[in-house]
Amino acid sequence: MSADARFPADDALIARLPPDFRIGAATSAYQIEGAVAEDGRTPSIWDTFCRVPGAIDNGDTGDTACDHYHRMPEDVALMADLGLDTYRFSVSWPRVQPGGRGPANPKGLAFYDRLVDALLDHGITPWLTLYHWDLPQELQDAGGWPARDTAHRFADYAALVHDRLGDRVTHWTTLNEPFCSAVLGHVEGVHAPGGRSLADGVAAVHHLHLAHGLAARRLRAEARRPLDLAVTHLLGTSAPATDSPADREAARRADAFGFRFYLDPILRGGYPDDLIADLAAHGVEIPVHDGDLAAIATPIDTLGVNYYRSMRSSGTDQHGSTTDAQGRPVTRNLPHGGLPVTGLDWEVMPHDLTDLLLRIARDYPGTPVVVTENGAAYDDVPDARGRVDDRDRTAYLSAHLAAVARAREAGADVRGYLAWSLLDNFEWAYGYAQRFGLVRVDYATQTRTPKRSAHWLRDTARRVRGTA
Ligand code: FCB
Repeated sequence: MSADARFPADDALIARLPPDFRIGAATSAYQIEGAVAEDGRTPSIWDTFCRVPGAIDNGDTGDTACDHYHRMPEDVALMADLGLDTYRFSVSWPRVQPGGRGPANPKGLAFYDRLVDALLDHGITPWLTLYHWDLPQELQDAGGWPARDTAHRFADYAALVHDRLGDRVTHWTTLNEPFCSAVLGHVEGVHAPGGRSLADGVAAVHHLHLAHGLAARRLRAEARRPLDLAVTHLLGTSAPATDSPADREAARRADAFGFRFYLDPILRGGYPDDLIADLAAHGVEIPVHDGDLAAIATPIDTLGVNYYRSMRSSGTDQHGSTTDAQGRPVTRNLPHGGLPVTGLDWEVMPHDLTDLLLRIARDYPGTPVVVTENGAAYDDVPDARGRVDDRDRTAYLSAHLAAVARAREAGADVRGYLAWSLLDNFEWAYGYAQRFGLVRVDYATQTRTPKRSAHWLRDTARRVRGTA
């Protein structure tokens, strides 16, 4: 069966999206910029983590990445050719405020200044993310996200970037995926800084929330014109693996730890009681101080949702036991099975994106959503001229955009879809082997070649806007 037949894209649904529905693409600083030691930039935790033997597939690093720092004007011209109306990028904290405190680095800020101007010159809306995982190493040495002070450092950094770009940039996202920074980075040890402690991970989540809230307040107070303030979370659904009470409880725990931990404090003003109890069973408490929850609940204008896949939850281990050696309940995330998978073995589940968006509409009403990332790694096979006929990725994107359109028609207030990613790039612990780009990057020559999926997105955007 061809990939196209596997996911019949609902072209009619997509065509009914409103003309002002945002269609664009996303990247992040460390994944594309390179130039890690240029113009005053200091190392981030990812520069350090890439040097840990075995941390990154093939020993890859972001030292050169897509060399976007030097090729930015061509890359923006390419976005314009592809008809993107929005470009989501992130600012590298150690580039604009080396070491994470003190004055701005004029050369670092000048790069983003040029980027924003280039985007606006091409009629592309800049969608700026302040933090996509590249914490200055000095702040890590001072305690990193498990330390409360990092939240205050982030608010200062946010104000410094806003001071320079706030006259032209309207769309400000504080953080990308606190779950990954906190849990992959501090509990599972697979992302920088490579920690393995639940208590650190939980403290990191809280301080990331606080960083978001303090920064949101600062930007709101300092803005001389209306801003669209957002935070982006990685979300999915957690279904019980079976109907057994143990699996249903495991799904509840997974939902508390992986979903409500992130949305409740921001959109409902507090942490869920069942999460607090689950953490207490592990001897862990969320380090909340007076006033934190009010800061964290500073109103936002848009919720950014990154969606890739969903998991099932099982309450038993491989041997059928419902408790671990310390007597604590088992929660295991499992694939659903029987579904097509991407190059990373992530299951392709567009229907869950519809469910997820409808759940947000139901449980957190009144929050406009933009899908700020969605996409797929596949083993692209370029022809002799570097062209990639990525029908699998095209089918993936089209099925997910249709899933968004379906959610909208059922009442979810979703206002845009940004594909991950504009370019093949440094895919964190997977290095360069996993390619998510709409545009192929030949890393030896830095040649960019739009894939079939890029042309599909361009044609789709034209149809939606009515300019086809
Ligand atoms: C998300 C990240 C993004 C990219 C995609 C594949 O979790 O935000 O940087 O790595 O996954």
